[in-house]
Amino acid sequence: MKISRTKANPLGGRTPLVVLTAKPPVLAAVAADADAALGGAIGRAIAEGEITGAPGETAVFHGAGTGPARVIVVGTGDGATRDDWVRAGGAIAKAAARVKTAKVTLALPADIGADDADAVLNGMIDGAYRFDRFRSTADDDATTLSGVALSGGGPAARELTALQTVAARVTAARDLVNTPGNHLPPQALAAYAVALAKATPGLTCTVLGPKELEKLGAGALLCVAQGSVNPAQLIVMRWKPAKRTTSEVLGLVGKAVTFDTGGISIKPAAGMEEMKTDMGGGAAAIESIAAIAQLGLPLEVLTVVPSAENMPDAAAIKPGDVVTAMNGKTIEVVNTDAEGRLILADALTYAARNGATRMLDLATLTGAMVVALGEVYAGLFGSEREWVDQVFAAAEATGDLAWPLPLHERYRPLIKSPVADLSNAAKKRQAGGVYAAMFLREFTEDVPWCHLDIAGTATLNGAATGYGVRLITRLARTLAS
Ligand code: BES
Ligand code: MN
Ligand code: ZN
Repeated sequence: MKISRTKANPLGGRTPLVVLTAKPPVLAAVAADADAALGGAIGRAIAEGEITGAPGETAVFHGAGTGPARVIVVGTGDGATRDDWVRAGGAIAKAAARVKTAKVTLALPADIGADDADAVLNGMIDGAYRFDRFRSTADDDATTLSGVALSGGGPAARELTALQTVAARVTAARDLVNTPGNHLPPQALAAYAVALAKATPGLTCTVLGPKELEKLGAGALLCVAQGSVNPAQLIVMRWKPAKRTTSEVLGLVGKAVTFDTGGISIKPAAGMEEMKTDMGGGAAAIESIAAIAQLGLPLEVLTVVPSAENMPDAAAIKPGDVVTAMNGKTIEVVNTDAEGRLILADALTYAARNGATRMLDLATLTGAMVVALGEVYAGLFGSEREWVDQVFAAAEATGDLAWPLPLHERYRPLIKSPVADLSNAAKKRQAGGVYAAMFLREFTEDVPWCHLDIAGTATLNGAATGYGVRLITRLARTLAS
């Protein structure tokens, strides 16, 4: 989607005009002019109670001859929450598709706040998203909003460009996560990251394959891929800005299991297809560093994405097998379906040993997190209160929600193994998300670290949300300022 500023009279064009109204509805400025051009039709709909201004409510009016051919009135509610504005934005995209227009003129209130404008525009972009790469026939709502002329309030041209830069990375992350496992095995994801880096000045990408990983002793990552014909990859991306405002190096680590069958501890068939999305953390880490580079943020970033396909096979890792991680700790693989923490273990060690001064990992890690927090909040864990607070603030500000959960030494018995240093799956079915986070902390080399368990938030009804890209970009902005 291309959003651009226009100085043209919003009432003059043939493209449908979108105006927003609060609850209760008040017609001011462009909305009042539009009402006048329509002979008071909007005002009558308000008087009849057909327009209430509820968030996401839409009404379409047709003009006669002069003035705008169509006016779409979209409700924003009382504007109290970010979600109201996001819903209004989503409704704009939906209404445009319904009236089969790819372009609209959007008149935002002249006094709209920066956060509200950010929410409505991002809601509109996210709402217009379609994943139709694998459809050969267009469906009914095939028209998608692709061009928006912005008139009135909202961000100036420069902020608008930045907003669209980040939104494009969110869209790209959604595409990666929605792409089926056969079309995006680890090597294809690595090739994608290399191409993305090549297209972005200052961003570099190197990929470590099985040979290099063996040299590094990355036994935890390697063992997950050993049942697959597709080799494990460690995708390493770096953004080094020309000028930096901080000596911090933000380490981003993201789980990229391109398909998770569970391995020998195989998952039930029902719903298994959704495990093509088990790389939402990796997608967020890759696209966020690209967004940060494209924005030119004055902060060094290191992205480390371990990628593997978890398959059952004669060569696959078996329950009870013991592997040695990059940091030398031994792990009893009690459950081959707890593979995320294995690949992340080596990636965290690698990030800590290669310059990260604080780390954030994102992973679709546990079903327990979906039970605990649903699709709304990610679970947020961390080794330092101040770093957790920063991640929490970025989550609140961007709508990529996350809620703090505990780590405590009293949970430690859960990660013990009778035969190795650690076990990858607890005997007790309790605190699944906490236990996974406790396991990850063993590999952070005491670098300040946060972990987002995004098993619930990476998808909504089975489709990717792009969770994390906006949060990380905001976090990077805060660290750099
Ligand atoms: N990828 C799954 C977690 C998951 C579940 C993500 C549902 C999204 C939706 C992860 O690899 C997994 O299988 N975790 C196991 C761990 C268990 C075996 C200790 C789980 O949560 O059941
Ligand atoms: Mn699994
Ligand atoms: Zn998994």
